[in-house]
Amino acid sequence: MDAIGLYQFHRPDPETPWADSMGGMKDLYDAGKIQMIGISNADVAQIDEARAVCGDALVSVQNQFSPGFRSSAGELAHCAQAGLAWFPWSPFGGMGDAGSLASTAGEFAAVAEELGVSVYQVTLAWHLAQSEVVLPIPGASRPRSIQDSAGATELTLSADQLSRLNAA
Ligand SMILES: NC(=O)c1ccc[n+]([C@@H]2O[C@H](COP(=O)([O-])OP(=O)(O)OC[C@H]3O[C@@H](n4cnc5c(N)ncnc54)[C@H](OP(=O)(O)O)[C@@H]3O)[C@@H](O)[C@H]2O)c1
Repeated sequence: MDAIGLYQFHRPDPETPWADSMGGMKDLYDAGKIQMIGISNADVAQIDEARAVCGDALVSVQNQFSPGFRSSAGELAHCAQAGLAWFPWSPFGGMGDAGSLASTAGEFAAVAEELGVSVYQVTLAWHLAQSEVVLPIPGASRPRSIQDSAGATELTLSADQLSRLNAA
């Protein structure tokens, strides 16, 4: 291909100033090698610095966020305010923990029972309900997982269910 559509910078390098890394991404953008810039594992200050260096070329932030990992909620809110797409990575808690989601995220399992769907659909619906900038990126090796997860786009959580999941 002539250019990469969206290039996600994976993780800040502690030995390289963040502004230099973002300058490198902007150089790739200016050279036409990438069409959009994303960053990953960035805090609010790093998101703002990336915006300052990359301007409108910066379109997305990919940070860890799941029922059991919510310490990036401030970064999610910041992205929602700035209009940056938010890709929650390991949205079910990661490959090693996703299989036990129903037992580790009890309220999510309870809502799944109420709605007659899987805990994975409820989790993705919860992600999507956080903000219109949210685009979950669940991993899967089985077609059945993918087909089930796609059903989350049709699932609507009630205000009560959403507030229970947010508080869980
Ligand atoms: N930026 C970063 O630093 C970073 C770090 C880690 C991960 N990521 C990204 O995050 C994305 C997802 O992360 P992840 O795969 O580690 O964790 P995840 O999406 O939280 O969990 C994946 C697991 O969930 C299972 N699963 C998915 N949908 C299911 C369903 N509907 N029913 C039952 N099981 C279901 C899959 O099972 P099966 O395999 O059996 O289908 C798989 O084992 C990937 O694109 C990855 O590249 C980014």
